[in-house]
Amino acid sequence: MPEVLNPANTSNEGLTESSPDSTAPAGLVFYHASEGKPLATPWQVALIRSQLLSYASLPEGIILDCACGSGIQLAAHASVLQRPALGVELNPNRAQASAYNLKTIAEQRNELTSERMATTRILVGDGRDGAGILSSFQDDVGLAQPPKIALLHLDPARPRNSRTHGLEEMAPRLDEVFEGWLPFLEEGRNGPSLLLDLSPRLTHDQRLAVEALVDLTWPGLLRTWVWTSRGRGRVDRLALWLGSAAEEAVARRFVRVPPTLGAEPTIVSGGRRLMHGSGHPIEVNRPPRRGERISILDAALVESGLAEDWLKRVSKEENIAWGVVEGRRPQIHHDHPLRLEDPADRLLVQATGRVVALARMPLAVAHVDRLVEVLLEHDIGRLTVRATLPPEVQPKVQGAIDRQLGRRHGRRDAFLVQQPGDEMLLICVVE
Ligand SMILES: C[S@@+](CC[C@H](N)C(=O)[O-])C[C@H]1O[C@@H](n2cnc3c(N)ncnc32)[C@H](O)[C@@H]1O
Repeated sequence: MPEVLNPANTSNEGLTESSPDSTAPAGLVFYHASEGKPLATPWQVALIRSQLLSYASLPEGIILDCACGSGIQLAAHASVLQRPALGVELNPNRAQASAYNLKTIAEQRNELTSERMATTRILVGDGRDGAGILSSFQDDVGLAQPPKIALLHLDPARPRNSRTHGLEEMAPRLDEVFEGWLPFLEEGRNGPSLLLDLSPRLTHDQRLAVEALVDLTWPGLLRTWVWTSRGRGRVDRLALWLGSAAEEAVARRFVRVPPTLGAEPTIVSGGRRLMHGSGHPIEVNRPPRRGERISILDAALVESGLAEDWLKRVSKEENIAWGVVEGRRPQIHHDHPLRLEDPADRLLVQATGRVVALARMPLAVAHVDRLVEVLLEHDIGRLTVRATLPPEVQPKVQGAIDRQLGRRHGRRDAFLVQQPGDEMLLICVVE
């Protein structure tokens, strides 16, 4: 029989791994156990996700997280959606941390004695065993009927320190969780609701394999893939929102978590179903021209396959050419400036400017004198190197440019890029 913890009277005795969450309001401290911190969802990410989920029309019932770890995401869902929560965790210490974290959030919101908390529990057990978990939950809470489950959330553990991993290495496994809970999920307008929090490292084919697993259990269930980024061009989370949790007619959503707590995220929605391809733009090899614009976009946006949808929002131009698609600095070439009045859109651009000079020379300390001459001809007082250089060379070249320009009187800000396989330096004045 799984052990049942009632968060309302769980203590933090014996829990030692506590840390303030840098993305949470000051003073909010979460507990973790058995090195659970790196597995936990940052509070700001969890909260934004739950807020987006509140727009979905979920069926009636409780929120289930069948591998709840430190319970951060479960606490966010339960408090934002105002529903009772059921968390399942194999590791007893982490289960206790989960229960205590749920209590902390409820206390912070003055909801410890609320109706939803009266039927909120964390179970120490196997998150694949739907029938066993529900019967223990029902007994402990004293319900006459098994509870209805409005949402199944799953953030499985995966092998650490490996760039890639197979679907069968997720713990618990998706297919086993689906099988264990299939009979118990309440149906909403678009069927049951599930939110699968997956690794951004899954390849396109693995993502399709996840869809195939879903289709085996719930054929044709509505789906929205969600890429979440906290900046620096990295995809931090990749999730699949299913059924009544998915957004109708939205195959993909990109969520840029804002740099300041409490601010609205930037959201780009649209795209094509994954079965039609990754959605990555096609690179063209076109010689750069003086006068054209170059923009370096957010790499995570490009990774999501939604960059072209977003470009339609900020540009009317038909002829946008992709100079670079892969890597940290995806680059487009275009004739007119992007419309970036909205700060949310500006977050998705690393740099944008107009090409004022093309210089054919190696990008090396020995050539910085010549480069600076070109820069001064264009009244440039500051230049950021945005070309790929070996890590030990980059600071030396940037430092030499900064020192030389610091002694002169250029007034304009600029950046420098290169096209793959081409030595030509493209000097762009920031607009
Ligand atoms: C990535 S963590 C979840 C983190 C959580 N979303 C949070 O916000 O704190 C995955 C958890 O699944 C647990 N787990 C693995 N297999 C399980 C199983 N069969 N049943 C229940 N929990 C399991 C692991 O112990 C781990 O704590």
